[in-house]
Amino acid sequence: MTFMTVNLKQLAAEYAVDNFVNDGMTVGLGTGSTAYYAIVRVGELVKRGFKLKCVATSVQTERIAKECGITVVDIDDVDSIDVTIDGADEVDPNMQLIKGLGGALLREKIVAASSREEVIIIDDSKLVDALGTMSPLPVEVLMFGHRKTKKALEKQGCTAVLRIKDGRTFVTDGGNYIYDCRFERIDNPFFIESRINVIPGVVDNGLFLNVATAVVISSADGSVRMM
Ligand code: 5RP
Repeated sequence: MTFMTVNLKQLAAEYAVDNFVNDGMTVGLGTGSTAYYAIVRVGELVKRGFKLKCVATSVQTERIAKECGITVVDIDDVDSIDVTIDGADEVDPNMQLIKGLGGALLREKIVAASSREEVIIIDDSKLVDALGTMSPLPVEVLMFGHRKTKKALEKQGCTAVLRIKDGRTFVTDGGNYIYDCRFERIDNPFFIESRINVIPGVVDNGLFLNVATAVVISSADGSVRMM
């Protein structure tokens, strides 16, 4: 008997591109290891002759998109985005999300806000009953006074850890730091978001509430379903 290993990220990504992207659209390209496969699939559509304009959610995504032959435009040069396809770190039963472990939450949120549809691509390991139970909540903060910002974040009931990558403090595309905030669970994400966003020094947080319009979920048996 032979077993095929299913690439769950690729499965969800290709399903989303094949079902949500049409010729002539303006498409938002997400960031991360799942979004990578969506970018590659969009590149295949371009090679087949689709006329697409794409907006990137990070410097990394812009580079990959260009390597795939995709035309990348500035978000300020489009009126709106037809559909954005992006990954997530957690998805709850109400399609509320935590994003930002890949470090691109700020641009991802700006792109999502200009998108008619925000399609999230995940495998079923990212499904949670309550946000914060698996993933920390990434919060992007200004470098200025960031230790004061950390203290204010921790007053909200979390442990905030400055993100380090490859032995250095991680700096976002916007030139900011990220604190990964570990809560036991986030039962009221709207309340937590409102508390976090009024802390001076906070640029944005990884709660994406009422942002997703569809979630594409792949499973190890090779099936794909939608929320
Ligand atoms: C980047 C993100 C990513 O979408 C999220 O971290 C999921 O990434 P991956 O698909 O690699 O698990 O929010 O800022």
